[in-house]
Order: sequence, then structure tokens, then C-alpha cells
Amino acid sequence: MNPATGATVLRVAPGGPLSGTLTLPGDKSISHRALICGALAEGETVVRGPLDAADTRATADALAKLGAQIEWRDGTVRIEGTGGRFVAPPEPLDLGNSGTGLRLLCGALAGCGVGVTLTGDASLRRRPMARITEPLAAMGAAISSTEGHAPLVLGAGACLHGMDYHLPVASAQVKSALLLAGLGAKGPTRIEDPFQTRDHTERMLPVFGARIERDGTSTQLWPGVLDAVDVDVPGDFSSAVFFMAGALLAPGSHLILEGVGVNPTRTGLLPVLERMGARIALHNRRDYGAEPVADMHVESASLQGVRVAAHEIPALIDELPMLMVLAAVAEGPSVIEGTGELRHKESDRIAAMQEGLAALGVDMQVAGDTLHIAGGGLKRGGRAASAGDHRVAMALAIAGLATPSPVSVDDAGWIATSFPEFSSLLQAAGAEVGNI
Ligand code: S3P
Repeated sequence: MNPATGATVLRVAPGGPLSGTLTLPGDKSISHRALICGALAEGETVVRGPLDAADTRATADALAKLGAQIEWRDGTVRIEGTGGRFVAPPEPLDLGNSGTGLRLLCGALAGCGVGVTLTGDASLRRRPMARITEPLAAMGAAISSTEGHAPLVLGAGACLHGMDYHLPVASAQVKSALLLAGLGAKGPTRIEDPFQTRDHTERMLPVFGARIERDGTSTQLWPGVLDAVDVDVPGDFSSAVFFMAGALLAPGSHLILEGVGVNPTRTGLLPVLERMGARIALHNRRDYGAEPVADMHVESASLQGVRVAAHEIPALIDELPMLMVLAAVAEGPSVIEGTGELRHKESDRIAAMQEGLAALGVDMQVAGDTLHIAGGGLKRGGRAASAGDHRVAMALAIAGLATPSPVSVDDAGWIATSFPEFSSLLQAAGAEVGNI
């Protein structure tokens, strides 16, 4: 991501309604996995409808530098895979803002014994990496970090062995990095999640021919070379959430979001919204390969405060900035427990949202990892900061639909890391949006 493009100010005016039928861009998590699995596989993988955004482009560029042939045209990516025989690039690979790209690629490359340095932008270099370097080293990888952060240096030629590992934090990125590393290890790898996290990797790897057995939150994988396949990428639920929230907030809205991924390890916000009084219906359920999708119908609703327990967090982790705004608008107080992982995202999302909500006249109290939001409405519009974080920027922009005067989000260009079409789609749905 070029920080210069981050400097856009996005202004959203109150009102709506949001209406019509929208198709969201491809799921970010699934797109990263499809690109990496395609590059690891033997033969040609065709990925239809991947997310075309700065994060996934960074992963595709890195894979091309590692010897995969990648052609990205008309919403489809063709990958001539390496069969796991990557070439070591002379320069460090820069994954930009993408934690998923860096962590998953690091696991895959460790399993292939590639000597390489992996780095990213200032935000990514602040994020914790010991959570992957320690277990990868325990599998036999020659890996070092910069005091627990990127740049990460992988030594060439290391032979990994499988292992049994209980994840200390519920993280799909760590789980996926270790499973991808396990493909190149000697013997099986078994990973146990403390809570069920998104399972896109466990669903996708068998489609590419890997042997996997799952038992509750435990996944066992046997090593092997992947075979190329075609992958259809569902719309991103985490992008759809901003439009769901917008439709809930803007009176008179009725919005249809087509072809959205509804993998239950991702849709944890839906039962929370239902408890808040939202009306969201899922129609036309079908499968894109190993992933369920549906069309979502959302209508505006008056929301009640809600209590969210720690065990619910992994299935809605990326939705928390938006949920904080909805809780602020709701009637009555909300309590959200177990949010500590939010401090390690593209920004410290607790601090960023506390500041963003304060700019809109909302007091969010933080006690350890628990958030207390009084509810009762957003008191004013004005200027709010994205903190260089796409999801904070989008959550605060959507808040502008429900404030007494417009909201202007500084540094909103970061939205392009995951959702370049955000403002044009929001405008198409009926919102008054513009860059200032
Ligand atoms: C992701 C996992 C989550 C999520 C991120 C994408 C993935 O991160 O927040 O946006 O694709 O595996 P953690 O695994 O760090 O919780």
C-alpha cells in the first residue's frame, strides 16, 4: 500500500436509505489461501472472483517472485504452480499491510525450505510474529525475527518435522501457517485451537488433494504435494458487514447482498445482531466448492444493547469495529468480552475505535479486555481518524449514516487494502459519499 493513497478523506452524510442488490468483492481470507495453495500445487489453478485489493496483490506479487506464474485478468487469476519448488528471491518479500499474506506465506515457505526474508509496511512490522516463529522453529525451521516482529528471515534447506501443537491464542493465521508448513514436514501435524477459528484452510486443503482429519477444534494434516484445482471465491462476509450495518442504521433501507460467504466460523455477528433486534434473512443457500454462500436480505431496525461473550469473538473478530458503532447507536448498554486480540490488528483497534467513537460523542469504557458501550446514539458528526486501518475507516464511515451531521474519515485510503470499491458501492446503494 502506498501511504500517499491512504491520505484521502472520506465524507459520509447521514441518512440513506440503502437499497438495491449488491455483489461484494471476493473473500480476503479465502483469496489469500487460494493464491498460496495454487502456487504450492502442481499444475494450473484457476481462481475465479478473488479479492483484487492491495493485500491480495501483495501476496500474488510475492508468489510470482518465488517462481509461480501468475496471470490476473478480468476477475480471474491463473496460477501455474511450483509443486512446492519455489526459487529463493534475492530481495526481501514485502507483504505490505497484510498479516494474512505474511503469516501464511511464512508457513508455506518454511515447509518448502526456502531461504527468504519476509517483511511489510510499518503497521505489519509492529504486529506480533513470535506466535508463528516459535512453533515453526519447534518444527525445525531455521527462522529468526526482529525482536518478535518482521522482518522474518528463513534459512534455506531446513527439514521440518510434524508436531502436536495447542495454539496459545485463537488465531486462524497461526493455525493456517502451521498447516501449510506441515505439508512439507516429515510426519503428520496436529493443531488444536482453543476456540474454533475460521476454517478456510482446513476446507480448502482437501480440495487441493491434501489429507486432513478434523475432530472438533483439532486438525491433523499429513504431508504431501497439492494438486491444482479451480476455486470460486465467495463474497467477503467481513466486507458485507459494513453494508448490513449501514442498512440497519439508515431508516427505510432494504438491501440485498448476493453471493456472500456464510461459513459459520465467520458469521458470528449474525446471532449477535439477531439478539440486538436486527432482521437479516439468508436466501438461496448454496456452495462454492467447500464454502457455503447465501444472499442476504437486510432491513433497517431499531437495535437493543447486547452482551457478547469471549467464546463468540473468534467468529466475529473482524466485525468488532462495526459492532462497536452499532452498540453505540443501540438502546441500552452493551458489554463485549474477550477483545484483547484487537490490539494486534492493522492498528490497536480498541484504542482506534475508542478515539473514533469519542470524536462522535460516544464514551467507550475499556476494562482489561472488556468493552462497555453505553448506547443511546452517536451524538455528533465531525472528523474521525482511521488510524491507518481499513476496518476502522469503514466502521467510522458507516457511522456517518447515523450521526446528526456528516462524518469525515481521515486517511481513508487504507480501505483499499481490503475493499477498494467500498465508497462507490456505498454510493450506489444510496448513501451520500464523497472524497474531500
Ligand atoms: C485471518 C484471521 C484473523 C483475521 C484476519 C484474517 C485469516 O486474524 O483477523 O483478518 O485469514 O486467517 P488472526 O488469525 O490473527 O486472528
